[in-house]
Amino acid sequence: MTSPVNVTVTGAAGQIGYALLFRIASGQMLGPETPVRLRLLEIPQGVKAAEGTAMELDDCAFPLVAGIDIVDDPTVGFDGANVALLVGARPRGPGMERGDLLEANGGIFKPQGQAINAGAADDVRVLVVGNPANTNALIAASNAPDVPTDRFTAMTRLDHNRALTQVAKKAGVPVSEVRRLTIWGNHSATQYPDLFHAEVGGRPGTELTDDRAWLEQDFIPTVAKRGAAIIDARGASSAASAANAAIDHVHDWVLGTPEGDWTSAGVVSDGSYGVPEGLISSFPVVSQNGAWEIVQGLEISDFSRGRIDASVGELDDERAAVRQLGLV
Ligand code: NAD
Ligand code: LMR
Repeated sequence: MTSPVNVTVTGAAGQIGYALLFRIASGQMLGPETPVRLRLLEIPQGVKAAEGTAMELDDCAFPLVAGIDIVDDPTVGFDGANVALLVGARPRGPGMERGDLLEANGGIFKPQGQAINAGAADDVRVLVVGNPANTNALIAASNAPDVPTDRFTAMTRLDHNRALTQVAKKAGVPVSEVRRLTIWGNHSATQYPDLFHAEVGGRPGTELTDDRAWLEQDFIPTVAKRGAAIIDARGASSAASAANAAIDHVHDWVLGTPEGDWTSAGVVSDGSYGVPEGLISSFPVVSQNGAWEIVQGLEISDFSRGRIDASVGELDDERAAVRQLGLV
């Protein structure tokens, strides 16, 4: 057995936290050989409920759990953190866009970035789930100047997984036979799920994209607006599927992506594919040796270019807005 990995989860008493913690504790995120020390970071009003979740974690008697702390101070919460899952934030309600949360939630990620900078472990890996996830990740990264920016990521794995299932259903193949699709841009309604490089049941994805009506009026809006559809149906934003995507993201980041495939993650742009440097944008990525790398050399059609530019333009606007608020 290796020594325990310190995993900090913010918003631990929330609905995603509840769906996430038991899976981390059972070894689904870091593997069945890796013990974890869990730190549940909440605001003071959330501490009692987080204590209840911790009691339930105790009652599972997970062999991999080396300890559970509940805290309401980010400086303590991120001290020594190897993996930080930044979930705690207000979710949107019906009729809102995720960008409407910028001001309410942006303020959370500045002090958390500073606390990560002050005390997290040298190998810290951060996944931001709280919306608007890409720009919140940018805020946290900007406030952690001593931590390499590529350790801050935003979650678009849920969008990726949503797209996998939509394609599998359309093609009548199992999800496992859909590979190399990409979510580009922002985790918002402007995101672009790209099938042009995909392989679907051993056939090129372009066999599906030739059906432009399906692509433009069905597939892209279904994936991009799925979060709102879930809110409409459930009366609350996605929780178990979001937790599942967070598990997938960290699992692949730490343990590697499968050979011959890639996934999607919001990572800091190095200027690849014309995305302005420094923005946290979703790209096709692989993880090798514990680090995300943007898949290079994909040909981008005019159709894709327009969609990517629109979503990246929105990220640029969000960056300008949080600059004005003094958050980056
Ligand atoms: P929730 O309201 O059920 O839980 C949020 C929790 O965060 C609450 O317990 C609250 O007390 C806590 N919290 C608030 N501010 C905090 C802070 N400063 N520090 C620590 N904890 C804090 O919400 P939820 O459904 O769990 O969703 C959480 C966030 O995740 C929302 O912003 C939601 O929009 C977002 N989300 C993102 C994705 C994605 O794909 N990126 C998917 C689903 C949800
Ligand atoms: C989602 O995609 O389900 C989440 O980002 C929640 C939301 O506000 O849509």
